[in-house]
Amino acid sequence: MKKPNAPRGPVAAALALIAAAATLSAAQPAITMKSFGTLRDGRAAQLYTLANSSGAKVAITNYGGIVVRIIVPDRDGNLADVALGYDTIGAYEKDGATSGTYFGALIGRYGNRIARGQFTLDGKTCKLATNNDPGGIPCALHGGRVGFDKVLWDAAPLVEKDAAGLRLRYLSKDGEEGYPGNLDVTVTYWLTDRNELRIEYAATTDKATPVNLTNHSYFNLRGEGIGSILDHVLTLNAARYTPVDKGLIPTGEIAPVAGTPFDFTKPRAIGERINDANGQLAFGGGYDHNWIIDRGTARARALVKAAEVYEPVTGRVLEVLTGEPAIQFYCGNFLDGKNAGKSGIAYGKRTGFCLETQHSPDSPNQPSFPSTILRPGERYETATVYRFSAR
Ligand code: GLA
Repeated sequence: MKKPNAPRGPVAAALALIAAAATLSAAQPAITMKSFGTLRDGRAAQLYTLANSSGAKVAITNYGGIVVRIIVPDRDGNLADVALGYDTIGAYEKDGATSGTYFGALIGRYGNRIARGQFTLDGKTCKLATNNDPGGIPCALHGGRVGFDKVLWDAAPLVEKDAAGLRLRYLSKDGEEGYPGNLDVTVTYWLTDRNELRIEYAATTDKATPVNLTNHSYFNLRGEGIGSILDHVLTLNAARYTPVDKGLIPTGEIAPVAGTPFDFTKPRAIGERINDANGQLAFGGGYDHNWIIDRGTARARALVKAAEVYEPVTGRVLEVLTGEPAIQFYCGNFLDGKNAGKSGIAYGKRTGFCLETQHSPDSPNQPSFPSTILRPGERYETATVYRFSAR
């Protein structure tokens, strides 16, 4: 017996098809967009949510290209947001105006520090805005007063068979923050079905300029707002690092990590040696240093594994693969509990860590470091993968 009102024949077949398509689409990479509010200058910002077929999600705003959320499973399949950040555009703008955490942001034109905010290129001295002064010594940090973390990017959603993406584009004008040349920058974020957040950076210029792009996500693999990251276990594929002076500028020396608290060549808890009596740790207030990745015989720009972090309570693992020569490991020493995050909980000291893939700090003033200069006709191209899993 048929129910009196149940659709039959072709109608039923069509409905069944739609239902099947809906089930299918829920299990396929997708991207949705909603308003993320209005900037102080009146412009609208959007929040894009990338979802993959296994339920992981990454939310990104086109303001600063900021990664707002990274939702990934633990060893029991429980999802949590492992990225520090805010719920509102206003909170990001306020942070940028005061404490400057750079939560989740795209960083450019030059990630990390340039000594005294100046460098000489092809015989010409370029003066940059100085916006940071560790140890009382001014430097240019993360692109200047209005770096790429504080601009509104053009955004285009992308969907492929095994990944959802967001392509961001920004034209940094000749002279912006003191840097020479119009720099045309494209950054593409992908959330793949392998729970990887892949970031592809590209840029071209019409005048020689330093370029050093990175992402400044802070991770807490137990979940943002849950507390300290000092029990996370870190491995760095790096036998050498660049010691700094009290202004956090590399001295130029490339030093072995062996026998120091900077040796993470074997897995070690982040907090294990952080309070050791060590001049370098004192300068950084903890870890805030640049390691040279052991790239072996890998081709330039080929992805190699730079870091792995394991969180014992949830089993979450983060692997970082990159084409870059170096990585800044910063463990949130400057977080001071003044800023409440997405869950309303204040982010205290060392409640998130960053693994910023890049060229070493102050490279434009360090002739022995790999060059960061991009010239007209060349294409800057680099990629980094943050791969999440659990064990
Ligand atoms: C970088 C720097 C740190 C700090 C943070 C932002 O990672 O290395 O010294 O300035 O950014 O708070």
